[in-house]
Amino acid sequence: MADKKAQLVIEGAAPVELPILTGTVGPDVIDVRGLGATGHFTFDPGFMATASCESKITYIDGDKGILLHRGYPIEQLAEQSDYLETCYLLLNGELPNAEQKAQFVSTVKNHTMVHEQLKSFFNGFRRDAHPMAVMCGVVGALSAFYHDSLDINNPQHREISAVRLVAKMPTLAAMVYKYSMGQPMMYPRNDLSYAENFLHADHEQNASTSTVRLAGSSGANPFACIAAGIAALWGPAHGGANEAVLTMLDEIGDVSNIDTFIAKAKDKNDPFKLMGFGHRVYKNRDPRATVMKQTCDEVLRELGIKNDPQLELAMRLEEIALTDPYFIERSLYPNVDFYSGIILKAIGIPTSMFTVIFALARTVGWISHWKEMLSSPYKIGRPRQLYTGEQKRDITALKDRK
Ligand code: ACO
Repeated sequence: MADKKAQLVIEGAAPVELPILTGTVGPDVIDVRGLGATGHFTFDPGFMATASCESKITYIDGDKGILLHRGYPIEQLAEQSDYLETCYLLLNGELPNAEQKAQFVSTVKNHTMVHEQLKSFFNGFRRDAHPMAVMCGVVGALSAFYHDSLDINNPQHREISAVRLVAKMPTLAAMVYKYSMGQPMMYPRNDLSYAENFLHADHEQNASTSTVRLAGSSGANPFACIAAGIAALWGPAHGGANEAVLTMLDEIGDVSNIDTFIAKAKDKNDPFKLMGFGHRVYKNRDPRATVMKQTCDEVLRELGIKNDPQLELAMRLEEIALTDPYFIERSLYPNVDFYSGIILKAIGIPTSMFTVIFALARTVGWISHWKEMLSSPYKIGRPRQLYTGEQKRDITALKDRK
């Protein structure tokens, strides 16, 4: 895996030889682990050029718009697979045969119930709390209910926790919604299928998955790690973008205001950004967005939605942004959240629940990465820093301070 070497020349010191690691596809990476011994660290805020781990789960080529889960293109999975099959694939590395699939679906269905006492946790939240705030709390609280399988060094415990999380997230999402409405909570109906939501199932080392891995690297239990992932997902630069798209459309208000808001998005002194546009990795197209756009068109057609002003506004905004040189030059295309926000609105999901739906779909990706990390040797995640604060100095007595 490390035939090539890179040489780093630091002025006044002997050259440092660094192994170059080659994956199965994708760019080579320079292994800088030995660099610390020379008294230097690398500086890469935001991980713009740093691979934080080795993984076999998901591959993305952002320039070519490629997304593979365990080698399978997302387009093929979207057309020929279903959500639980994709979950099995992410968790186990291979698609299930018919028997394995039936067994997996049955196991997941057997775990959809949550402990009855978990309901009392909801009562501690105000009814108008944001559903993501409640999700952070109740998913973390699951650790207090499933002690029987919290030994992270036991592969069987990891397996049970993974299934529990995949199975219980839709139940919790429904409970969060019902609580916010002040209505009685629903018990899961196992005669219904798991909703198809796989375009969000996994996405490599994004902010929330990296958060789950970082929390997991300290030995924290899986429920606590997923709660950390939910917190990271909530931000509008990440999974909160689907909700932020709708908030933005409300703010723009009317097609006649689009030019003003496009100008705001381009203005470096204005914090406004076009939500649902841009991606750290995809600089050509987001392959999920292509599938989502098709689904979006189908959903709007199927529902006969023609004259919804907010959807019209979204479509017009997409059209303008796709032809504006500012967005073209910076490769800012609509991302998956632009279309998922529109679809969720069209099918009647309340805006504040959008990111919760994302979280329940992404749980399988988070837990697959957590399991992968724990199944081979790993170290606690602990980045270093470039310190630019004061050098050592002595305290001045309070009476002498100005
Ligand atoms: N609107 C206007 N300008 C933008 C936008 C946007 N949405 N996104 C990026 N830019 C501009 C930046 O100002 C920057 O311009 P400059 O080169 O003139 O300084 C350039 O494009 C590059 O942007 P960066 O911020 O460096 O890109 P980065 O990779 O750090 O950020 C991100 C990616 C966070 C997704 C960003 O594009 C963004 O905030 N988009 C809106 C939020 C969003 O939709 N997030 C969902 C992402 S998908 C997901 O997480 C599921």
